[in-house]
Amino acid sequence: MANGPLKGKRILVTSGPTHEPIDPVRYIANRSSGAQGTALARALSALGAEVVFVTGPADVSLPEGVQVVKIETAQQMLEAVQGALPVDAAVFAAAVADWRVAQASNKKMKKDGKGLPSLEFTENPDILATISQMGEGRPDLVVGFAAETNDVIENATAKRQRKQCDWIVANDVSPETGIMGGQENAVTLISDHGADSWPRMSKTQVAKRLAEELAQALTAKG
Ligand code: C5P
Repeated sequence: MANGPLKGKRILVTSGPTHEPIDPVRYIANRSSGAQGTALARALSALGAEVVFVTGPADVSLPEGVQVVKIETAQQMLEAVQGALPVDAAVFAAAVADWRVAQASNKKMKKDGKGLPSLEFTENPDILATISQMGEGRPDLVVGFAAETNDVIENATAKRQRKQCDWIVANDVSPETGIMGGQENAVTLISDHGADSWPRMSKTQVAKRLAEELAQALTAKG
């Protein structure tokens, strides 16, 4: 583990998409590549943190030198996150599916000529809100991400209040930005101090700057 301002701090990072099964061969997913979460895990580890990296099935290679927990579904991600506690800080960069199929079939669904299947959904647990709102044992710093396509700062500020996390890293994932699945990100950090918009930069640079902000905040808290 590297020496640095985060030495002695244990930090959890969630990353990637989740896969929600329909049947044993089909699932519902999203376009998250896991790039931003992976870059963050690397940046935190480079500053000396002990990182627990809980990841869905992502496209990018795993960060080295961190504890990796691989999961597929949102429910498994929640269990892995709870299993990783206590931590000093938690950063929820994963794109967790909001819904899952209520009754995934345990056999492959067949085209049987009797009409189209219909899927009924149920809500997944909100991992960020669950951890933000836990009383005893809550991490000192809980950071969420907000991927928005419109009214980015307004929506992300409301999200921060609703979920009760400390910071929200907001970004515009409209297709024309090329951010989701791309190499760059343009984020606004929303905290008690208001909204701080950073210029567009690589996801690696966003991760480094965020790791530095985290180190400052955690050192200030002692
Ligand atoms: O509500 P929304 O999905 O836009 O919130 C995004 C933030 O909440 C991200 O930090 C994401 O990791 C987290 N989240 C979560 N569990 C969910 C949904 C979102 O932890 N079920």
